[in-house]
Amino acid sequence: MFFGAFWGLSMRDLLQLSGKQRQFVELLQRQSTVDSLRSLCAQAGFDINFINGFLLSGALNGYVQWHEHNQQRWVLTAKGEELDGVLPGFDLAERLLQGNSDRATLQAELGTAFSLNYGALRREQAVDLVDGDGEGVVKVLKSSVLGAYQQRQVVFAAVRERSIATDQELADRAASSLEWLQQQGYITSRVESDYSLTVLPALQTLELGDRVTALSSELILSGQWRQVDLKPYDIHAEVPDVAYGRPTILTQCIQRIRDIFLNMGFDEMSGYLVESAFWNFDALFTPQDHPAREVQDTFYLANPQTLPLPEDQSLVDRVKQVHEANYGGQWTETEASRAILRAHTTTSTARRLHQLQGQDGKYFSIDRVFRNETVDRTHLAEFHQIEGVVVGELLSVRTLMGYLTYFYERLGFKNLKFKPTYNPYTEPSLEVFAYHPPSDRYIEVGNSGLFRQEMLEPLGCGDKSTVAWGLGLERIAMLLYDVEKLSDLIGPDIRL
Ligand code: PHE
Repeated sequence: MFFGAFWGLSMRDLLQLSGKQRQFVELLQRQSTVDSLRSLCAQAGFDINFINGFLLSGALNGYVQWHEHNQQRWVLTAKGEELDGVLPGFDLAERLLQGNSDRATLQAELGTAFSLNYGALRREQAVDLVDGDGEGVVKVLKSSVLGAYQQRQVVFAAVRERSIATDQELADRAASSLEWLQQQGYITSRVESDYSLTVLPALQTLELGDRVTALSSELILSGQWRQVDLKPYDIHAEVPDVAYGRPTILTQCIQRIRDIFLNMGFDEMSGYLVESAFWNFDALFTPQDHPAREVQDTFYLANPQTLPLPEDQSLVDRVKQVHEANYGGQWTETEASRAILRAHTTTSTARRLHQLQGQDGKYFSIDRVFRNETVDRTHLAEFHQIEGVVVGELLSVRTLMGYLTYFYERLGFKNLKFKPTYNPYTEPSLEVFAYHPPSDRYIEVGNSGLFRQEMLEPLGCGDKSTVAWGLGLERIAMLLYDVEKLSDLIGPDIRL
């Protein structure tokens, strides 16, 4: 077969070229020798390090011979780069050599650069300012220094543009200028490795052939895929921006908030969407005739209609006792057993306190809750709460305010206000407001407090103090991302 007979193994390697490598091979095919690979790369716009790697990979073995030679080269220092191509002193020296010495004229021509230029020449005692008409004149003391500036500038430009092929050439022509430029810290000498290449006939006559960009079934079936020049994948190529999956704003907020609490040393807790009224209300010292329990506020389930009460009978007994002792009347298991969609995540906290039985700890959750609300721009029947509880000793309202201030600050809300409120299960209770600069308002962001003895004692944490909160996640997301309608945050519309 034609291809098989013609292409040897190493030639096949040469055919597995990336776009840049292929361009370089095509460039080499037009030369017989290359004195300096560096210069070639600089001229043709190749990255010398990339081409170096290509050479050293061996892919060009048999096609190109090369010799490494190190070269001492002058290059600009950072200070030299900053000059932008013109030595300070040069412009003034030029004008003085042309016989222009009037200070006012020179200053007008050179502008702010005048003093820099003058300073440079003055340092070599080449000039002085003397009185004359008007603002005086710049007197030349040493014209040899001014003359030297011409050559210094030429040499400086040559180093800068790398337009002088070898160092030797520069050194021969301008030893004193080089020395001066180096003393000034504008240039330095560096050893650079370079290669000279001999392009062998094998490369000059090599036909790179057309590139095959699509692998067809014919190529595979005939076996030709082994020989043809298949275009390799270029993983650096620009490709169209594909819309890929990414977290919604709400999920991003949850992740941010989760990180904040984890960094504050909190553990994450979880609970159940479907709960008994016991965990949602009774364990939270909420009377069985409390208005929040009514169907206007809470979703009751038809199936299951009830859920079992906790197995810990003493918990149920103590809850019953504390309710009947404080609120009077009959506390019934029937009411406590009703199955609901949880109306807050304080259910998770209550369960956790019961598990802890007096151990210290810090817990948070970011979870969904349900309320039978009238749906409007800022209210939906389901939303998320950021729940938190700290169990310890001697915790106070100050502790609570400290935690909340720290947390909201991490999100960028710098000013908080707290307002007394009422919850059946906390005393004192504090509503939390955060200042929102764009609207110049304090916006309600949550509710918090210290759990009452009447709640802690039946749960087995009677000798503990606690601080706790339940904050609105959607409120935070709306403020952070400037969203006006709560319904924009959720649902199938993902334009946000
Ligand atoms: N459960 C309260 C609410 O839903 C928030 C809260 C949690 C208040 C914990 C105090 C302590 O608004």
